Amino acid sequence: MRLEDHPLWPSVAALSVPLVPELRLLLLDPTSTVWNATDPEALGWPYWAFAWPGGQALARSLFDSPDLVAGKRVVSFGCGGGIEALAAAKVGAREVLGSDLDPLACEVATRNAVLNGVSLRTTQADLIGHDLDADVLLLGDACYDDALADRVVPWLRTLTGQGVTVLLGDPERVNLRSRLPLERLATVLAPHDGNPSGGTPWPVHVLRVCVDGAETRTVGACPE
Ligand SMILES: C[S@@+](CC[C@H](N)C(=O)[O-])C[C@H]1O[C@@H](n2cnc3c(N)ncnc32)[C@H](O)[C@@H]1O
Repeated sequence: MRLEDHPLWPSVAALSVPLVPELRLLLLDPTSTVWNATDPEALGWPYWAFAWPGGQALARSLFDSPDLVAGKRVVSFGCGGGIEALAAAKVGAREVLGSDLDPLACEVATRNAVLNGVSLRTTQADLIGHDLDADVLLLGDACYDDALADRVVPWLRTLTGQGVTVLLGDPERVNLRSRLPLERLATVLAPHDGNPSGGTPWPVHVLRVCVDGAETRTVGACPE
């Protein structure tokens, strides 16, 4: 399906979210009633129409701490509309690849890159289990159910062991803390699901995966 033919498209506009005013993104207008009035499954789960809390928090952290990605080769897994990928590009990542299984997400992320004057490549390939030619892997809200986490967690362990820095924006939809050694870099209050301006904000942890063997934790620094 072309983006222009998607039922949500007429309600999508170029907007900024309060946590990340540096970016303009094609988003479902929060004043639109379409999302609540429609069955998201019937719409093919259009994640690309939202800036998810995990992605917002991760993007905020990248703008606040550009050294995390500046000059580095970055992959954004489950990029959706690309909020954290675009933040990485804006603060000086050497190259950024966004991955999403959904071709419409890749299309929106590409359009958002143009909107923000940055360069972004995308892939629809499922990268889980593959080696990455990258320095940093970003996951903004991309570990959102147990089935996905079961596949992603071993991959993150392997990549971390290979020297890739893995950064997550994690609204704790699943319990990652019991599965991975994690260092908490920040906690950001992000708007509740999907609606950039509405709902009760919830705390989202920005986490870095520690090398295997480190004590599992979400607070404090990784042991050397
Ligand atoms: C909740 S959205 C988050 C989007 C964006 N990172 C953000 O925070 O706004 C999760 C995304 O992960 C994508 N996804 C799920 N499994 C994936 C996989 N194996 N490879 C790539 N993308 C995947 C979905 O299509 C969806 O766009």
